[in-house]
Amino acid sequence: MSALTETIPSPETSTTADGPLISVVSNRLLGARRKQGGLPTTGLVLSARVSGNADVFPDVLKLHVPEGSTIADVTHGKGVFWRKVDKAKYNLLATDIKDGVDCRKLPYADASVDSVVLDPPYMEGAVRGTAYDSGHKAFARYYGLNGAGCGSGKYHAAILSLYLDAAKEAYRVLRVNGTLIVKCQDEVSANKQWLTHVEIVNACAEMGYYAKDLFVVVRTNRPVSSRILKQVHARKNHSYFLVLVKRKTSAPNADVSREA
Ligand SMILES: C[S@@+](CC[C@H](N)C(=O)[O-])C[C@H]1O[C@@H](n2cnc3c(N)ncnc32)[C@H](O)[C@@H]1O
Repeated sequence: MSALTETIPSPETSTTADGPLISVVSNRLLGARRKQGGLPTTGLVLSARVSGNADVFPDVLKLHVPEGSTIADVTHGKGVFWRKVDKAKYNLLATDIKDGVDCRKLPYADASVDSVVLDPPYMEGAVRGTAYDSGHKAFARYYGLNGAGCGSGKYHAAILSLYLDAAKEAYRVLRVNGTLIVKCQDEVSANKQWLTHVEIVNACAEMGYYAKDLFVVVRTNRPVSSRILKQVHARKNHSYFLVLVKRKTSAPNADVSREA
């Protein structure tokens, strides 16, 4: 031991009239009289679940969209997200390209809604012409993909541009601190890995959104695949709900609320 370490007392072993030195210092720093509130629980909303959209979506609302809010579901489809939600608790504005409302051109005034839900087609196979010819017709029909609803560009770019154009339009109609809920899934397209959720979060940060939360939905069944000669990428069996908040300013990422 050197002369220096011999003469400096260790905070772990030194004591004061109020107790061990290390506890006194850390209590002062943290605020010694702070009381822990709340009750222990195992009922917290979790970030990942082996479940379906209809089970996870109510949790997303519970945590991030207060009852009484006006919510524009701009790709409402069959309304699967809402199957387990008491719709009487919200003012739901449900639209879809199938009803003639494009999520990139919404019929709402600026800053007039509390939340936007966006779940457009998320796989590039859906926008390839070949998809229609190779047994994916039902898939294309489900997504309403007759060309009208797709974004510009090809393949993955078409998917991403639809998301980003819709996120821009959502930013216009959302009030400040309003919430954009985006359902998306990463994909391998043209043998390339595309982390779509990362692309969306980054582009949305540029637009003025803060990525407040992320939910992972893991499929309950195994995806089946035929005609695979050699597997190169892990087969995706998960998707995301992203919760993006329209910030007051374009200031650096700052959360609008604190964990209680
Ligand atoms: C994955 S489905 C949505 C499912 C829906 N979230 C549900 O719970 O049933 C995608 C939907 O996006 C719609 N869509 C595709 N392009 C669109 C666009 N440009 N604007 C609005 N809706 C669009 C399709 O018609 C389809 O209903």
